[in-house]
Amino acid sequence: MTTESRLQELESLRAAALAELDAAPDADVVEAWRVAYLGRSGKLTQALRSLSDMPIDDRKAVGAAANRIKQALEEGMEARRSALQSAVVGGLAADQIDITLPGRPVDLGRYHPNTIILRKILDIFVSMGFQVVEGPEVEWDRYNFNMLNIPQDHPARDMFDTFWVDWRDDKGDMPMLMRTHTSPMQARIMEQTEPPIRVVVPGKVFRYEATDATHESQFFQIEGLAVDKNVTFANLKHTLYEFARRMFGDTRKVRFRCDYFPFVEPGVDMSIDCFACDGRGDDDCRICRGAAWIEILGAGMVHPNVLRGVGYDPDVYTGFAFGMGLERIAMLKYGIDDIRLFYGNDLRFLKQF
Ligand code: PHE
Repeated sequence: MTTESRLQELESLRAAALAELDAAPDADVVEAWRVAYLGRSGKLTQALRSLSDMPIDDRKAVGAAANRIKQALEEGMEARRSALQSAVVGGLAADQIDITLPGRPVDLGRYHPNTIILRKILDIFVSMGFQVVEGPEVEWDRYNFNMLNIPQDHPARDMFDTFWVDWRDDKGDMPMLMRTHTSPMQARIMEQTEPPIRVVVPGKVFRYEATDATHESQFFQIEGLAVDKNVTFANLKHTLYEFARRMFGDTRKVRFRCDYFPFVEPGVDMSIDCFACDGRGDDDCRICRGAAWIEILGAGMVHPNVLRGVGYDPDVYTGFAFGMGLERIAMLKYGIDDIRLFYGNDLRFLKQF
């Protein structure tokens, strides 16, 4: 082969290579091109290798040309690469996306402490065979009071500061109110069903009271009711003891003391020994403040008048009922010292649970 034809061959190699490079649509194709021409057994590399078989004069001219072409291909490759790269970045810029910005963290919501505690409490009673039932927040005077053995002018009405609703039934003798407790559901359920009954009733209640660290005008209660033949005070104690242990720990002790609620007889309040100082009553205990015992709910055997009022024979059926404040349980469990925090919508508070 003449020097002339060798140079021509190299020239057409260069032209073909650069044309291919120009058409390369992306970095992968550029890389394949590099291997095909400049790689270890690429076309140009082979051409350079074959120089050693040539006479010395040819070698100089052809070698110099081959090296120029190699340099041209390498430069062309770099140019193509950066053109492709800036096309990508340019496309992103046109889309108004700054790929260097860090992502914005997604602020996940979480459950309100009331929801967490309510679910815990309901789980415990459901596992003991109680059904969950809900009832109306606007209630008749009749269910909130009369059917719970609290007649019209009974002094026990003073236990419940009431929001009255300005509405009466057709006869004008059935005042309405915002229920002051969940107990009216005792009467509603018994009126609608026959024993055996085992229900828990969570829901909002309302009291016409000034707000402070331990009082809110709206809060949640959970009512419990079990009615059947042969239900005794021992069943009440066992059920609530089991609840206390599962809620506040295996080693909890419970204490029952006489208390008065018109719709139960006998009536009690139940306390647990303080779980924070283990019942020692430490003076600086932030939960019991030295009292050693913490009241957590009211309870009792359903009053015979209440049973009669819903058409049950108190000589056949007996039952127990209990009621507890949800926020109070949550405050104890989490060591919260102000009930107003539950309704303040302060994320610094809510994010802690
Ligand atoms: N309803 C009572 C209250 O709100 C609590 C209670 C319920 C007491 C059931 C005894 C039995 O104070």
